[in-house]
Amino acid sequence: MIVNMILAVDDKMGIGKEGSIPWECQAHTDFFNKITRSSIVLMGRKTFDSLGRNKFRKRKNVVVTSDKIKNINCIEDPEQFIKHYIDSDKELFIIGGSSLFNKYAKYTETIYVTRIPEDCECDVFVSGKIFFKKVVRTTDWLTKDVVLETYTKK
Ligand SMILES: NC(=O)c1ccc[n+]([C@@H]2O[C@H](COP(=O)([O-])OP(=O)(O)OC[C@H]3O[C@@H](n4cnc5c(N)ncnc54)[C@H](OP(=O)(O)O)[C@@H]3O)[C@@H](O)[C@H]2O)c1
Repeated sequence: MIVNMILAVDDKMGIGKEGSIPWECQAHTDFFNKITRSSIVLMGRKTFDSLGRNKFRKRKNVVVTSDKIKNINCIEDPEQFIKHYIDSDKELFIIGGSSLFNKYAKYTETIYVTRIPEDCECDVFVSGKIFFKKVVRTTDWLTKDVVLETYTKK
């Protein structure tokens, strides 16, 4: 299984505020929808709540929680889940939130980071350490202001 990660961060490494994302970035949303299509998307329970408990269509949605959610694939242990599928040809995207980004970056081959160029006064952050030390890093412009960085071990 190929494990990737996709996120958007503000200039303080913030990813969320009061249970949602405090910016609108259509370019990131379009990129997210394109790149994760047909893949497995793995998210924490609070991220799932932030979607209004709506699944992403055309993707297999998996939620990490110690609880059960009706009609949703729930798992308790992402490590076990990744190891179980490691030899399959499936592609998995870790899509948040901070607990998953910070803990499971080590399993990822590629991290896609959209940089929002402002301080959005977030209350949830990711660690700068999630970005690999030895990487091929490419930078692209999604729009005039918004940069996409790709970190890959390949
Ligand atoms: N900017 C972005 O790219 C982006 C992406 C996604 C989310 N967000 C934002 O991030 C915020 C949510 O992130 P968050 O870090 O607060 O929460 P989160 O990671 O989405 O969810 C945390 C919950 O996930 C479950 N969980 C996580 N790791 C677990 C583990 N190893 N074992 C068992 N359960 C585990 C637990 O659920 P239970 O309590 O049910 O057991 C935990 O309370 C929101 O503001 C959201 O909008 C931003």
